[in-house]
Amino acid sequence: MDSMTLNNDPMAAVPTAAVPTAAVPTAAVRTAIVIFGASGDLTQRKLVPALHSLSCGGYLPQASRVVGVARSPLSDQSFRDRLFEGVQAYARLKSDSHTLCELWSDFADRYTYLAGDYDDPATYRQLADRLAQLDAAHGTQGNRLFYLATPPVLYPTIIEQLGQAGLNHSALGQTRIVIEKPFGHDLESARRLNEQVHAIFDESQVYRMDHYLGKETVQNILSFRFANAIFEPLWNRNYVDHVQITMAEAVGVEHRAGYYDRSGVLRDMFQNHILQLLALTAMEPPSIFDAKTLRDEKVKVLQAVRVPPMPDCVHGQYRGYRDAPGVAPDSQTPTYAALLAFVDNWRWRDIPFYLRSGKQLATKATEISIQFKGVPHLMFPLAPGREMTPNILSLCLQPDEGIHLRFEAKEPGAGMRTRSVNMQFHYAQDLGSVALPDAYERLLLDATQGDASLFARADGIECAWQLVDPIIAFWARPDAPPLAVYEPGSWGPAEADALLARRGLVPRKGLTLWHHNCGGHEES
Ligand code: BG6
Repeated sequence: MDSMTLNNDPMAAVPTAAVPTAAVPTAAVRTAIVIFGASGDLTQRKLVPALHSLSCGGYLPQASRVVGVARSPLSDQSFRDRLFEGVQAYARLKSDSHTLCELWSDFADRYTYLAGDYDDPATYRQLADRLAQLDAAHGTQGNRLFYLATPPVLYPTIIEQLGQAGLNHSALGQTRIVIEKPFGHDLESARRLNEQVHAIFDESQVYRMDHYLGKETVQNILSFRFANAIFEPLWNRNYVDHVQITMAEAVGVEHRAGYYDRSGVLRDMFQNHILQLLALTAMEPPSIFDAKTLRDEKVKVLQAVRVPPMPDCVHGQYRGYRDAPGVAPDSQTPTYAALLAFVDNWRWRDIPFYLRSGKQLATKATEISIQFKGVPHLMFPLAPGREMTPNILSLCLQPDEGIHLRFEAKEPGAGMRTRSVNMQFHYAQDLGSVALPDAYERLLLDATQGDASLFARADGIECAWQLVDPIIAFWARPDAPPLAVYEPGSWGPAEADALLARRGLVPRKGLTLWHHNCGGHEES
């Protein structure tokens, strides 16, 4: 495919500051951040590298402090040593003027550690004392952010203990709680967890994490749709033929088999990330950008989603999955799923949303593609053997972040033949070479500032479980179609393409077309 680059307005000055980008708000709130599960993987790989990048960028006030809580007996120093390893390996920040070590030594003493059992009230008494000391010594002003980064089975215990210790509110400042996914295992457990949370915290204090919502490109769906006048008039059943939302991963289950084998792709990727993307794509324009209005609109979409009667869905497992340590030898856990969903409202009635995600696929790529309807009448001749190519708008969320619009242009020379060309926007090329902030940076900062717009709400979580639970139950039935086995490095089971074809939709060349669009490669 030919390619045509859409240049930025040269008059628009694009900031190219080294770190961080101007993507995050700057109001500073002195906060004591308490991480439960502080000796775990998430803390080392994601939370502390994100906090460190925020500190280096000046987004976290000097006075902010982090208390890590976990069962392992660790000194402050050995805790900091572990965190530094994580920062070295995973922090986004790269500075020209300071070494990472210099930057770390500026901030290392913000981190302290508290060893204790999660079900022991003494742990929480010590934590309360520590927080009071931080308020006195560093002016954290009673602001607390509790982050649950433990295995989910511990969430109810920690929440209850926080309540019993009176740590669910503070006389002076704001108390908030961030809850990592997975939020429940099904609708019933999610409801139960919501009740347990609401017995101690008000919903306005609760921040349910879905890291996809913190990704720059995911937030850009909102800017693209609602800061431009030209797309929204077409964004409906009159012009859109169908939508494909794809989350392909090249990795397998790696060291997470214990968790994954009990979850599978619908719980791991659909209940949260894919349905959030669907909601952002299909929602009505909110009147204002605030947590309530935005989330009201997203929940309305989830309430309107219909998944047609089974078996209009495909589940698969990559060959070799059962050999992974921690996976049952006869595991029926799907590592791939594809399904058609519909949004039953005036804007989207009868327009298929094709949703798919899988592990061990050919490449990592997350994309939303909007395929538009064809022209009502074509007056130009087509090249022999060629069909009219529809306009496709690809929102490429990762790894090659950008937006592509495919349209028809006249082939040079005699006659009036057309061919497909691509208009492109690329973050790296058009907005400077600064690495995009990690999702956790944005979300941690928003949580300290009390902005819940990019977090899931109780009703949204429950709606999403209501959608995936029946599919999971269907696949567990003895008369359900068997798991389709697919080869690692492929594009998933052939049955998934057939699912589209059955609806008269073009299976987009075994899923490679969207990848070519997002990768910006020529399409043959
Ligand atoms: C997590 C899932 O929520 O998202 C993982 O538990 C998955 O299984 C990951 O690999 C994908 O996130 P990202 O940001 O790498 O696309």
